[in-house]
Amino acid sequence: MQNKIYTVAIIGVGSRGALAYGRKINGIKDKFKIVSLCDIKRCRLDTYGEEFGVPENARFDTEEEFFKERRADILIIATLDQDHVRHCLCAFKLGYDVLLEKPITADASECKMLLDAQKKYGNRALVCHVLRYAPAYLKVAELIDGGEIGRLVAIEATEPVGYDHQSHSYVRGNWRDTKETSPMILAKCCHDLDLLQWYAKSKCKSISSVGDLTFFNEQNAPEGAAKRCTECKYSDTCAYSAKVLYLDNWFKLDCPEDYWPYNVAAEAPLTEKKLREAIEEGPYGRCVFHCDNNAVDHQMVQMTFENGVKASLTMTAFVTGYGRHSTYFGTGGVIDLDDEYVTLRKFGGETVRHSLAKPKEGGHDHGGGDTGLISSLYEMLEGRAPAGTSLEASIESHLMGIAAEESRLDGGRLVLVHK
Ligand SMILES: NC(=O)c1ccc[n+]([C@@H]2O[C@H](COP(=O)([O-])OP(=O)(O)OC[C@H]3O[C@@H](n4cnc5c(N)ncnc54)[C@H](O)[C@@H]3O)[C@@H](O)[C@H]2O)c1
Repeated sequence: MQNKIYTVAIIGVGSRGALAYGRKINGIKDKFKIVSLCDIKRCRLDTYGEEFGVPENARFDTEEEFFKERRADILIIATLDQDHVRHCLCAFKLGYDVLLEKPITADASECKMLLDAQKKYGNRALVCHVLRYAPAYLKVAELIDGGEIGRLVAIEATEPVGYDHQSHSYVRGNWRDTKETSPMILAKCCHDLDLLQWYAKSKCKSISSVGDLTFFNEQNAPEGAAKRCTECKYSDTCAYSAKVLYLDNWFKLDCPEDYWPYNVAAEAPLTEKKLREAIEEGPYGRCVFHCDNNAVDHQMVQMTFENGVKASLTMTAFVTGYGRHSTYFGTGGVIDLDDEYVTLRKFGGETVRHSLAKPKEGGHDHGGGDTGLISSLYEMLEGRAPAGTSLEASIESHLMGIAAEESRLDGGRLVLVHK
């Protein structure tokens, strides 16, 4: 029997919309067909419209035109954080089933509004908490659920953002100003909160958090540092030099035409000229100590779940590499998850190491999570599996993030997640 083929529209044809999901979906022709695109950047509509075979009359450069009617079975919403609620509400009203990028919103009342709209219009929605679909994290769930460590008591998790990723996204880039976008705990760590809540199998009761922006500001600029890296005497030696991060590193990778983070600094197809211009004139060439950023560079969160499980999360910019690390403490054993392995150590028993796809982000597939998400989307549409990262489940971890930020802004006060 032939598969049903679902038609797909994408709004926000950028790193996630085009490269992560568009390309994957375009490669599964017996299940999906991309039929419409919307992006405010014409060049992206042209590039990916051609690549995905979307006719010109189905490419839209304003959301007003795009949302005049329903264009497909499913809408992938991969615009920036501040647009998600507006675009999702339009999609629900038009009857789309939705794949929605995270974070959904940093406003608890908007979370409720979206849930109400979903109930009213009856749409299915999957939120892109992709790590839940990555083999390494699924293995941890399987071990916990299989009782391999007895009763889960506590979790310790680290999100090592990385000095270079921090400078790219949270100092120079799209997520630098939390008033315009989301606070770090949602922008970067809503995956972590989602995983913690999923493993704990319980709603979070209370949360406290501390964190600051300590380093990426004027006070820490090296003596005589220029406002732009290309004019700076430290341009070959500074770890954050835009010349090193966007040009030298691009050369080392043999000059890829379309690769993160270079394709954020300049428009694909990438050339040396475009990247040079980007760092000479654009936001990604600014000195990290002379930017208009306010996102924190480290944050710690303590959580207590309603069933008594405790968790702590540390997010830090001050590290190399991106692989998340976590430890799961149970009454009968411990699980460690790192870049390479999921290791189970049973008390009085043997140690078993499972080597899995790395849960690193650098590989652009979130350790298999992006692929797993798209498979689950199809299963959900076919009614064969419930949406793991449903809107309702995902909002639970968003409420944790919102409470954590409230606590951080109030010096670490204990905050109830469900008021
Ligand atoms: N699930 C994950 O692991 C993950 C990872 C990274 C980013 N994200 C999230 O994915 C989203 C997209 O991030 P990205 O890195 O792809 O950003 P991006 O800038 O590469 O893509 C966003 C696209 O949206 C377009 N756009 C902006 N406003 C628009 C509008 N009103 N109508 C139509 N198009 C519009 C932009 O031109 C751009 O092409 C963000 O919310 C981000 O937080 C999720």
